[in-house]
Amino acid sequence: MDRDLLKQYLEFYRDLGVKSVFVEPRTARASAAPSVVAAPAVVTPKVPAPVPPAPRIEVPAMSGPTEMPKLFASDFPVSPDNDSLVKIQEDMGDCQRCRLCKGRKTIVFGSGNDRARLVFVGEGPGADEDAQGLPFVGRAGQLLTQMIDNTSGKEGFAIRRPDVYICNVVKCRPPENRAPEPDEMEICGQFLSRQLMVLKPRAICALGGTASKALLGTKEGITKLRGKWHMWREIPVMPTYHPSYLLRPTSGQTAKREAWEDLKKVLHYVYDDPPRPLSDF
Ligand code: URA
Repeated sequence: MDRDLLKQYLEFYRDLGVKSVFVEPRTARASAAPSVVAAPAVVTPKVPAPVPPAPRIEVPAMSGPTEMPKLFASDFPVSPDNDSLVKIQEDMGDCQRCRLCKGRKTIVFGSGNDRARLVFVGEGPGADEDAQGLPFVGRAGQLLTQMIDNTSGKEGFAIRRPDVYICNVVKCRPPENRAPEPDEMEICGQFLSRQLMVLKPRAICALGGTASKALLGTKEGITKLRGKWHMWREIPVMPTYHPSYLLRPTSGQTAKREAWEDLKKVLHYVYDDPPRPLSDF
């Protein structure tokens, strides 16, 4: 790899707060991952500590269809030693790494039980979340809370919303509630990736097409993805419909029933005692 490009990669990760990049040996994975992954060594970039304030990165506007973010979708194992949610939030700081910083009031990092066995990942904050600094607190959030609490209750679990962890692919509200752009997801996805590696949940429930595509690195739509288990690194992922979609009068009873079925599967896989293998669900 070109030295300048490697330097850019390392600076990019340093700015994200990543202090070590563990590089896998050249294997079959090399073709699917960015070429920086393929170097057969452990690269520990020398970085000044503490991490300097993040420089403002001017990200050009995207045009035309683009691929899903590869770094995030791949098994690119970037995470500092002894990482923690607090450290990730510190590293995000007053993040200016992409254009979404311009319109946000607050960074919506995530909320819930930091020892949760189940993590829900949404798309990005809306107006209510931006105002309160918490994920899923608007109408879609209220539906999500009901879905978790009611399904769990009906299935005989004591689990309620505060027992799980909830976060989004991007932490700043996209303008006009548009879907996040691939480059925004790639930049912010590094923080989500670290959150998931710290939390190490037994399963992830991806809410909607954006979260599912970002986690799984696929262009497949939510209708095809939902209801089946997929993997993010070694963690099972269940894609399901986004609560905002379920709130639309046009979404229909079938989608609602399917979302409840997906959630039931997830809850049983995560909380059944004794645990049962994924293949049972
Ligand atoms: N929709 C999302 O995807 N995330 C939120 O936090 C709120 C609405």
